[in-house]
Amino acid sequence: MKLSKKLKQLPPQFFASLVQKTGDAIAQGRDVINLGQGNPDQPTPLHIVKALQEAVENPTTHKYSPFRGISELKEAAANFYKREYNVDIDPLTEVAILSGTKIGLVELPMAVLNPGDWMLLPDPGYPDYLSGVVLADVQLETLPLIAENNFLPDYGALSEESKKRAKLMYLNYPNNPTGAIADLNFFNDTVAFAKENEIAICHDFAYGAVGFDGVKPVSYLQAKGAKDVGIEMYTMSKTFNMAGWRIGFAIGNSQIIDAINVIQDHMFVSLFPAVQHAAVAALNGNQECVTTFVNNYEKRRNALISACNRIGWKVEAPRGSFFAWLNVPKGYTSQNFADKLLSEADVAVAPGIGFGEFGEGYIRVGLLVDEHRLEEAIERIGRLGIFNKDMTNE
Ligand SMILES: Cc1ncc(COP(=O)(O)O)c(C=O)c1O
Repeated sequence: MKLSKKLKQLPPQFFASLVQKTGDAIAQGRDVINLGQGNPDQPTPLHIVKALQEAVENPTTHKYSPFRGISELKEAAANFYKREYNVDIDPLTEVAILSGTKIGLVELPMAVLNPGDWMLLPDPGYPDYLSGVVLADVQLETLPLIAENNFLPDYGALSEESKKRAKLMYLNYPNNPTGAIADLNFFNDTVAFAKENEIAICHDFAYGAVGFDGVKPVSYLQAKGAKDVGIEMYTMSKTFNMAGWRIGFAIGNSQIIDAINVIQDHMFVSLFPAVQHAAVAALNGNQECVTTFVNNYEKRRNALISACNRIGWKVEAPRGSFFAWLNVPKGYTSQNFADKLLSEADVAVAPGIGFGEFGEGYIRVGLLVDEHRLEEAIERIGRLGIFNKDMTNE
């Protein structure tokens, strides 16, 4: 059968091969410590599960949802932004309900760009952004994120031509994969840059809840004038351990929100109303569970970094997200180092090159197993004899 050209243009799912290799090793009966994925390991808090159970028992949730989602959820999203970030949001016009933010990030270029338009994407970055580029037939310029700039883009390094032609830019802090965070100054600069060059901003706030060392990550919408030029994507997947429930929202500039809603009117009938009611319970409910998850990730981060230090692996501690971005020792690529760790230490990690050219030289480790398993993973790596306790690996 002849299938579409578009299908062939879609980027290969880089991490499919990692999942396959890890699965094969586990199928052989090996005790693999899987640090390669981004799936929260803890269950959804009970009060959210209970809210779903109650909602399911109410037959009104068995009908089609309103096309653009239930109003209670948009109000809960607006209240959440007021409470957490002191940002004023009109629930009617400034919130779009999404079946997970992945879909929002993939459909946004289709909603706001024309074929041939240019967009700016961070490198390294979340690989699914690239799917939206291909589906919308737009052109891509990458923004290198490098350690010297704390993994923030350097707008000053863009050429005049790049600034002129770019129409949309994605950002993501706390950052997957680097674990970097951004402050309000950075977002203020971003708004100024966007206004000057007429670039729409989409800030992917997937790890918005996860800041370490007492730092609460800043929302892009806290920057002055942010709503004039952009939106934020907020997922329930990470903050409330609801990755399988597929729910999130886009929030901010009403024109962009409307564009998302129009595209979605043609593709979805929102999502299961009971899931939307459970999301209301999550957003309006006690947030203690979120603090507990974040403290847990921080303990794991500390255990991981101490274990790296003990084997002589000099690494930087992430400041947010639930990933650590560890530099690869001299003489290895990210891919062959990741392959070595899986085949010789039974430790699965994501090679940095899978996140873009500027991901080379790093591996991404998820803080999604308990402290003992993280320590054991690093001890196993230490036994490979790559690192010398008395030397740096640079
Ligand atoms: C940076 C980033 N953005 C967006 C997502 C998508 O989240 P979801 O589709 O579950 O809302 C993820 C998931 O891993 C992510 O890491």
